[in-house]
Amino acid sequence: MPGIVLVGAQWGDEGKGKATDLLGPQVDYVVKFNGGNNAGHTVVIGGQTYALHLLPSGILTPGVTPVIGNGVVVDLEVLFQEIAALQTRGIDTSRLLISSNAHLIPSYNRTIDKVTERFLGKRQIGTTGRGIGPTYADKMTRVGIRVQDLFDPPILRQKVEGALMQKNHLLVKVYNRRAVSVDEVVDELEAYAERLRPMVADTALVLNTALDKGATVLFEGGQATMLDVDHGTYPFVTSSNATAGGACTGSGVGPGRIERVVAVVKAYSTRVGAGPFVTELDDADGERLREIGQEYGVTTGRPRRCGWFDAPVARYTARINGVTDFVLTKLDVLTGWDKVPVCVAYDVGGSIRRDLPASQTDIHHARPVYEYLPGWDQDISSARAFSDLPPNAQSYVKSVEELAGARISVIGVGPGRDAIIQRHPLIPARS
Ligand code: GDP
Ligand code: IMO
Ligand code: MG
Repeated sequence: MPGIVLVGAQWGDEGKGKATDLLGPQVDYVVKFNGGNNAGHTVVIGGQTYALHLLPSGILTPGVTPVIGNGVVVDLEVLFQEIAALQTRGIDTSRLLISSNAHLIPSYNRTIDKVTERFLGKRQIGTTGRGIGPTYADKMTRVGIRVQDLFDPPILRQKVEGALMQKNHLLVKVYNRRAVSVDEVVDELEAYAERLRPMVADTALVLNTALDKGATVLFEGGQATMLDVDHGTYPFVTSSNATAGGACTGSGVGPGRIERVVAVVKAYSTRVGAGPFVTELDDADGERLREIGQEYGVTTGRPRRCGWFDAPVARYTARINGVTDFVLTKLDVLTGWDKVPVCVAYDVGGSIRRDLPASQTDIHHARPVYEYLPGWDQDISSARAFSDLPPNAQSYVKSVEELAGARISVIGVGPGRDAIIQRHPLIPARS
């Protein structure tokens, strides 16, 4: 009954979509357990590029049942747009299941997300503007609207009325926007109810029953460890638990079911949006990483901030998630540097820290301590075995593995589905 959790190790966009797609043929279910359409996962299959936001990346593998768990926040308009776009490209979306407990993103939360950011001014987070934060806030303050509410019209109306009592004060009195009527919100949500109905399920029951029968379930995290609301660089985070524990709360599957925790880590670092980033480069090297790595957001198109590999972050990720295996992506992007700097520790006002400082202020003030590893010139994009890599690329992988503290089982050498080096299987063999 293997449950495998896959999470981002840094600030997102590590290549989780590609890693999920890679595992697709070996799994029965792929479950998205957190976040919503703030995610942007690119999967390249045979020269075709797919950009997924709300749907689990496993939807691209025939035979896999994709599941949107209770921990996800669902924008119905985006859901049906994404389904339609995949269908026109011949992808079968008919097996998709959605938890009846998942929360919905009403359009007023998209508005509130954007105006809140504007009001924060210099302190803004740089959110994706998709209504993610306000919807999770509603969930916690118990004024959220859930998938199941769509099928009980009096309850839906009652909940929308309750939510709007607060939201309209906020919209009108604080943000100087127009009030929203109960009817328009109810209509907006109900418009999708009948199309949604066949997909709605008690997904926790489905998944636990499947695990009892020996199915393999992959829990696909959106965002990443450093964007986790509890463990990330708060307040510059998203509003959900993107770490391995979130797979359990976000799906209704107990921790004893999880056999492996896979973290996807880039061979360097990137971040979109505001917040501390110790190894950030504001020079030609940063620009070169961005151009060679094509570091532009899949969701918002924003250029990603780029920097060198950060070992204190990787070690922290290994610890917080209980990582059993790393997938190291984009090693090919580092080809052509004479020396590749790797941040091995932080210097915080003269004190050298190998572990991520617990104080956010210290992280803001930290300076990277670099070791310079010898680079390589050879194109590695066609390497398919570890021994195909030039010796210095092999040493880079081994150094990063040593620094991060968990084995690197897969290495990415290009965006395509087959551009990988497999060192250890990520999924335990079935008995
Ligand atoms: P996700 O959000 O973690 O799924 O990652 P994104 O899809 O947002 O960003 C990762 C980008 O890197 C995508 O454009 C992928 O096609 C690409 N990618 C993934 N793995 C590799 C790799 O090993 N090498 C290269 N060059 N690109 C990769
Ligand atoms: P994937 O799954 C990178 C960032 C935003 C912002 C912060 C909060 O593709 O790795 P939000 O809209 O979630 O309230 O924004 O989190 N962010 C991401 N950055 N990859 C993502 O997803 C992200 N999802 C959110 O840029 O800084
Ligand atoms: Mg992404």
